[in-house]
Amino acid sequence: MSKIIGIDLGTTNSCAAIVEENGQVKLIPYKGGEFIIPSIFAIDDKGNELIGHEAKRQWQLNPRNTVYAAKRLIGRSFHTDVVGQMKKSVAYEMKAGERNDVVLDVAHKNFRLSEISAKILNKIRSVAQDYLGEKVTRAVVTVPAYFTDRQRQAVKDAGKMIQLEVVRIINEPTAAALAYGIGKNLHETTVIYDLGGGTFDVSIIEIRDRVFEVKATGGDIFLGGLDFDQAMINYVIEDFNKKHSIDLSGDPVAMQRIKDLAERVKIDLSSREQAPFSVPFVTMTPQGQPLNIDFVFTRKLLEDLTLPLVNRTVDILMRVMNDAGLDPKNVDELLLVGGQTRMPVVQKRLQEIFAKPPSKGVHPDEAVAIGAAVYAHSLEDNSNLKLQLLDVIPMAIGLEKAGGEFHTVFPRNAAIPNAKAIEATTSYDGQTEVAMRIFQGDHAHVSHNELLGDFLFSGLKAGPAGKARLEITFDVNIEGILTMSARDLETGKQMKTTVRVTQH
Ligand SMILES: Nc1ncnc2c1ncn2[C@@H]1O[C@H](COP(=O)(O)OP(=O)(O)OP(=O)(O)O)[C@@H](O)[C@H]1O
Ligand SMILES: [Mg+2]
Repeated sequence: MSKIIGIDLGTTNSCAAIVEENGQVKLIPYKGGEFIIPSIFAIDDKGNELIGHEAKRQWQLNPRNTVYAAKRLIGRSFHTDVVGQMKKSVAYEMKAGERNDVVLDVAHKNFRLSEISAKILNKIRSVAQDYLGEKVTRAVVTVPAYFTDRQRQAVKDAGKMIQLEVVRIINEPTAAALAYGIGKNLHETTVIYDLGGGTFDVSIIEIRDRVFEVKATGGDIFLGGLDFDQAMINYVIEDFNKKHSIDLSGDPVAMQRIKDLAERVKIDLSSREQAPFSVPFVTMTPQGQPLNIDFVFTRKLLEDLTLPLVNRTVDILMRVMNDAGLDPKNVDELLLVGGQTRMPVVQKRLQEIFAKPPSKGVHPDEAVAIGAAVYAHSLEDNSNLKLQLLDVIPMAIGLEKAGGEFHTVFPRNAAIPNAKAIEATTSYDGQTEVAMRIFQGDHAHVSHNELLGDFLFSGLKAGPAGKARLEITFDVNIEGILTMSARDLETGKQMKTTVRVTQH
């Protein structure tokens, strides 16, 4: 059997790793150099598809047909706040797909989100094949702990499209804990604070040598470095408007230049107190006179603008600590993962909370891919590495009751794999089908939660209302993916389960 690689499919950057014959884990380099592949897909004006570095190199000039941060949209319903928010911050076009998902229009061609992920996965795979000199057909792929069932499913589908078997989906913070803890014979409670480009995750993981047990998890898949950039961009746009009465937000090329620079200045400000923010000839006055953006951005200003974002991460962290019944002083180790954790104020806040500095034992950009590779290795047939990952679901899973009330079947932080059965009956005479809408989220009303699917169970023996008894089983596998089945308890027969088009 061929090797299984580990893939960190990031919002902004992706990375792959593998355990080599000698047992060493290696990040897979791209053309002998960088380990990171930008998660960007573009189509240029000649119709060529570009992925990764090639796509990033041209994105300033081609913002309309350059897709980035697509991971934020995967497995999402089109008519949700997050999608509306995204539309405002990106230059590429989004529309509603047939399954109420999001479809992207790139150079007048439609792409589903799983297709975009498939393109990126395929690029990573081909880089890995070049490096290994053999075909790669299997991978362990990481996702944010806070991903719903639907988002996980979409990543699996992306693999299928390119004949890459996603043998296991694992959570990013769990992978990072694995990279940190493997082979050290640890017995400790760790907090993994993962603030990447697009998503924030926090997991509390008890490590007992080779057992990694998640006690609680939480996050926000709309909270990451991109939002820090956006806070800067908003400031720059407003400031420019005040000075020149010109709104730059309608000019995609100007916006792309500002966005690019915002990220670079933000990164600079992690190691210095101030940095120039200058975009020459960003636009012209109605009289045709060129205008520049030119001022000095200070670390203090960045910290002020992004304080609400840092506060949100701290609130989530505290909720998760509370869910786990854990006091900061009982945390043995704090692991920082994700590029945005390099921001000094983030480290300072956490140091205050935990009264100790974060661990130096993990690399914030590499830990997730390394953990995925270690886990991939443990799944290989000839492996003698035995690992146990005990994970949880990040949000409750349940069904819609009358009036849109949410009935919880699995509470958040329920251990996976997990199965539960509920009993149901018919509400009218002769009924042979039962429909059920399943949601995931922590809100008491389904309209605030994500619809996972509309299930139809058919083949029930007809009878008077309320007489039939059927048992509906919810099965959440080790990857956090739900399957449903139903049985007619009168006849003992398995019923047919159909997932209908997902609509809100
Ligand atoms: N030195 C730095 N200071 C501040 N931010 C940084 C620094 N280096 C990188 N970043 C930010 O980190 C983010 C990328 O982090 P990372 O590569 O971990 O994300 P990702 O894995 O692509 O995303 P996610 O895990 O959310 O899907 C970017 O927003 C980038 O601007
Ligand atoms: Mg990441």
